[in-house]
Amino acid sequence: MNMQSIRNIILKSHYDREDLVHLLQLRDPEKAELLEHASGIRKKYAGDQIYFRGLIEFSNICRKNCLYCGIRSAHKGLKRYNLNDEEVLETARYALDCNYGSIVLQSGELESKHFTGRVNGLLNKIHQHTGGRLRITLSCGEQNRETCLRWFESGAHRYLLRIEASNPELYGRLHPGDQKHLYSRRLECLYDLKDIGYQTGTGVMIGLPFQTIADLADDLLFMKQYDVDMVGMGPYLEHENTPFYHLRNLLPGHFERFQLTLKMIALLRIMMKDINIAATTATQTIDPSGRELAVDAGANVIMPNITPVKYRQYYSLYNGKPFINETFPDLEQSSDFPGIKLNNQIAYGEWGDSIHYLKKQGS
Ligand code: 5AD
Ligand code: SF4
Repeated sequence: MNMQSIRNIILKSHYDREDLVHLLQLRDPEKAELLEHASGIRKKYAGDQIYFRGLIEFSNICRKNCLYCGIRSAHKGLKRYNLNDEEVLETARYALDCNYGSIVLQSGELESKHFTGRVNGLLNKIHQHTGGRLRITLSCGEQNRETCLRWFESGAHRYLLRIEASNPELYGRLHPGDQKHLYSRRLECLYDLKDIGYQTGTGVMIGLPFQTIADLADDLLFMKQYDVDMVGMGPYLEHENTPFYHLRNLLPGHFERFQLTLKMIALLRIMMKDINIAATTATQTIDPSGRELAVDAGANVIMPNITPVKYRQYYSLYNGKPFINETFPDLEQSSDFPGIKLNNQIAYGEWGDSIHYLKKQGS
């Protein structure tokens, strides 16, 4: 296909599955053109600025056993931790000191009364201690509707729950085939969250074992159809203490997964112009300036990890997670990256709600 006809596809107002499969395989210079187009759309429809969310990984205890994840419950050698309430509050205050408008409370998945009650208490305490100045996003796995509602009423207005893979068959191959890991349950939870009124976020991993380009095209169509408000997607990265580690030689290389991630971000930005899209930590694991490059491909959110340093090494989803030993939040380093002046574009002190969500609320 010549350059002009590729340009015509990039500029289409609506992509079908075939277009997406084609565009996901672009190489430079056409790939660069796609990314540039997406970056322009981000600035026009999602604002000129980048929003920060301070990420607090408050516990790595998880009841699940996803085959790709380094903190799965079967990883017995891993030290498990749980920040106490005071540590979480201190970290939330730190986010305010940094002038971040928003935080994400992330953990493994637990469904005990103790856990759900504790998260509820944390939401109340954080709002009290910070005068309601922080938007709080939760990322604590699948919960029943009652719990989701309770947390919403206690002031969690956003929720992240990645679908991981929208193809049920692929989802089945990524997870144990038991009642704890049901695709149907995950989908149900995503629809509950939206119905309750959360700004909902989902996402997928890119470059997974058994995943095809057509699966990724379908992932993009899934997010559009679900009408998502926020998305976080990043490359799949191996972890040596997982069942998937032995498949590593069958996978595309890290660079390839990274390039595919940039194209996924760009295509989603073109398809859903006013949503929030995160430049994830996993992109930075492959390339030190990965998050900045993701911003250039259409992302508009960065989640600096502000988890107290002594715990960071234990939230080990995959090998090579950056900045686990630093004594400062990771941000200072990454924004030093020459040539990309993210600093000039950062919306300090702003909540940065999804414009897509706000428009739906107003309509
Ligand atoms: N590589 C990349 N991302 C991973 N996650 C879990 N394990 C891995 C891995 N090995 C992602 C999942 C999950 C999020 C918290 O981390 O998508 O939803
Ligand atoms: Fe637990 Fe999430 Fe890891 Fe699955 S991906 S094992 S639910 S932390």
